[in-house]
Amino acid sequence: MKPYYITTAIDYTNAAPHIGHAYEKVLADVMARFQRLNGREVYFLTGVDQHGQKVQKKAQEAGKEPQQFVDEITAHFTALWEKLGVKYDSFALTTAPPHKRVVQAILTRLHEAGQLYKASRRGHYSVRQEQFLTDKERGEDGKFGDEWGEVIELEESNWYFKLSEHVDWLKGYIRSHPDFIFPAHRAHDVINALEGSGGIDLCISRPKERLTWGIPLPFDPDFVNYVWFDALVNYISYAGYLADECGNTGLPDFKTLWPANAHVIGKDILSPPHAIYWPTMLHAMGFSDADIPRLVVHGWWNVKGSKMSKSLGNVIDPNVLADTFTPDGLRFYLMKDIATGYDADFSDERLLMAYNKELGGGLGNLLNRSLNMANRYRNGVVKIGGHDDDICVSLRETVIEAYTAYPEKMESWAIHEGIEEAWKIVTAANGFIEQTQPFKLAKDESQAARLDAVLHHLAESLAHVSVLLDPVMPVMCGRIREQLGWALPDSFKLTDLRWGLLPDGHQLGLGTPLFPRVEVASEEGAGAKARP
Ligand code: MSP
Repeated sequence: MKPYYITTAIDYTNAAPHIGHAYEKVLADVMARFQRLNGREVYFLTGVDQHGQKVQKKAQEAGKEPQQFVDEITAHFTALWEKLGVKYDSFALTTAPPHKRVVQAILTRLHEAGQLYKASRRGHYSVRQEQFLTDKERGEDGKFGDEWGEVIELEESNWYFKLSEHVDWLKGYIRSHPDFIFPAHRAHDVINALEGSGGIDLCISRPKERLTWGIPLPFDPDFVNYVWFDALVNYISYAGYLADECGNTGLPDFKTLWPANAHVIGKDILSPPHAIYWPTMLHAMGFSDADIPRLVVHGWWNVKGSKMSKSLGNVIDPNVLADTFTPDGLRFYLMKDIATGYDADFSDERLLMAYNKELGGGLGNLLNRSLNMANRYRNGVVKIGGHDDDICVSLRETVIEAYTAYPEKMESWAIHEGIEEAWKIVTAANGFIEQTQPFKLAKDESQAARLDAVLHHLAESLAHVSVLLDPVMPVMCGRIREQLGWALPDSFKLTDLRWGLLPDGHQLGLGTPLFPRVEVASEEGAGAKARP
């Protein structure tokens, strides 16, 4: 079977990362880890988008060379991924020579195939957004809205890609491939956009007098490549496309890897870039229908119903949150409080609750109590075959149902539901302690066999939880297993899950709190601190 090839959007390097960037990378990382746990080989590519007008402008303002400027911002992204445990196999840099060679090779091929032409266009041009505007961009009053800033009349020569030649193919492709875009309802927006702009070709150049920070067109040195064309190509340049022709080494074998199983992107960059430009570019390069990648489109994290923005001063910094709530605590919140494909509202209070109540009070407490009792009453030794009863049977059934339902939820990007399955075990096991009252059983010699069964069921349930939550909280789940004195056997797969992970006589470790309570300094949750 082919490896599971997963990519994310590559982040702009004109500003530091925020919570939205972190969410997307963690989402892809969770899927990559889940697929590995499910026995699949995975190739996970993420990276940064380093060219374009915005970078050129920001670098100028900072008095730096663009390369130095993007290198510094890139370091913020890679440091954050390291901190959050986002474990990619490869990191795309669009200023790296191998990528640039592939972009130029593609441009040359498309040029030779007659897919590119030069034309002069006169029209309305937004200075702020640095793009030509069409009538579609006019508001109901017929005017261009404030979001476009100053709009001037401009005449300019540029290179165009004959996108319009591929529109009929694309419409047919989208209609006959309902799984091209996940969630499926987003495909309608794309079809609508195509109906509206079907005849328009894509401008793929910017004149050098306006923009120098880009990849030069190999056949016309007065122009650099439009940043979206360059950026989209990362998905194939870093997968080994045209590697031999471009003298690129150390990359995967393209035929083995392609097409991508998932380009994980936000809803804002679905149409037109990923759903229109990208498939038509691939089609023009000669890719067949079977070689069109799949798009996984996530929603946005907003703040109190509004978009995050610098001007509103509501940009959420994932670094601070990871320091307060631990990286895994933040990952947990980001995965459980949103349904993939839909928007969610970021909330300090809900993050605090997820950490203190669910992780600390629910999971951490369960682990601590279970290990403390096992150590106090049985020196931490698991005894299988104690006195079984309906309460034990019911907990066992909950565990089996959870690990049976879990893979399908995760596979279909319902990560929050995958977490819910694992949480059913946590809730049931906490209830099980209340029902069986092991501290009372310990006082009654005649209940020794029952106590064995209870302690065994708790430890075994926790071993299962540590596997199911592993993609979401890899560090904490590793620590749970350490405390259980249990490690995942080599090449362990989800299909190896069964009741009976811990053998008779298994020696458990000691419990130490995993999620120290975070105290809140003020009502808004600002200044939250972990208690030492
Ligand atoms: N550079 C382009 C992508 C090129 S892909 C070939 C870009 N960069 S970005 O930095 O603006 O956004 C990167 C990703 O972060 C996008 O998928 C975008 O949707 C996502 N997010 C940006 N803000 C977000 C939220 N507030 N919430 C969730 N994701 C968001 O677009």
